[in-house]
Amino acid sequence: MKERLKHLYKSQQLTKEIISDIFKDAKRFYDENYEPELKGNILATLFYEPSTRTRLSFESAMLRLGGSVLSTENAKEFSSAIKGETIEDTIRVVENYCDAIVIRHYQEGTAERAAELSSVPIINAGDGRGQHPTQALLDIYTINDEIGRLNKLNVVMVGDLANGRTVRSLCYLLSKYSGNKITFVSPENLRMGDDIKEHLKENEVEFEEKSDLNKVMPDADIVYMTRIQKERMPFEEYEKSRGRYIITEDNLKLLDKKSRILHPLPKVDEIDLPISVENNDKRIAYFRQAENGLYVRMALLNHLLG
Ligand code: CP
Repeated sequence: MKERLKHLYKSQQLTKEIISDIFKDAKRFYDENYEPELKGNILATLFYEPSTRTRLSFESAMLRLGGSVLSTENAKEFSSAIKGETIEDTIRVVENYCDAIVIRHYQEGTAERAAELSSVPIINAGDGRGQHPTQALLDIYTINDEIGRLNKLNVVMVGDLANGRTVRSLCYLLSKYSGNKITFVSPENLRMGDDIKEHLKENEVEFEEKSDLNKVMPDADIVYMTRIQKERMPFEEYEKSRGRYIITEDNLKLLDKKSRILHPLPKVDEIDLPISVENNDKRIAYFRQAENGLYVRMALLNHLLG
């Protein structure tokens, strides 16, 4: 009998078997060989923080699979949260209106709290500085698709590693595969958290912290760029860190032709490349990565509801 998740609120829940099943289904959806497999299902998307990719790709995924969508794109202001309703009460009500709930919230741990009491699947679409497990799933799907393997990789993670939930979730997934090495490159005030470093040590994943991006680029299979999250820090901290690490046409020359630049997006000033390079240089993979999000989320919905 295949392993099945009821909810997905953190990357640690994903076993290699589940990941492999989801990837097979995502590839099938990419090849457009599918029926409206979730016809009759309703997905609710409850977003207390802004989103372009995650909310719209989940909604598109459900619609493409024949289901329907209920959406609150600014739940912080336009749901009863503004009147003081707890997340527990909101979930106990919304679960009656739908078959699954995708939630993005500004407080770490909210999706897990929701999952503890929800009768329908809860999917974490980002919880504050916590995790973003579906982003990590589409990230490793993209790495596998572009590089052809998920082990023996040298992954360089760059930018705001203190506030970035995508890099945290990605570390948990990379630690499931053997021989991977992670290099963290960040401003001193935005280093990767000790909890993730502890997890990597426990799982015997080699990692190091460096300050010079150009020095580590030549050996990287993946350079995973992230933006400085100005909404999660005082203005002075942001000013200290912004513009410190940028991919330009100059340092892109340091990257091997088989390697790839990924980014969860949105990107701000940490990528400074002309559109012609983004369109024509195969090493620039972040728009393909965002597209893969659709197929991976279709596969995840199918896993939870199919
Ligand atoms: N990568 C990501 O989570 O993008 P959005 O904030 O646009 O959903």
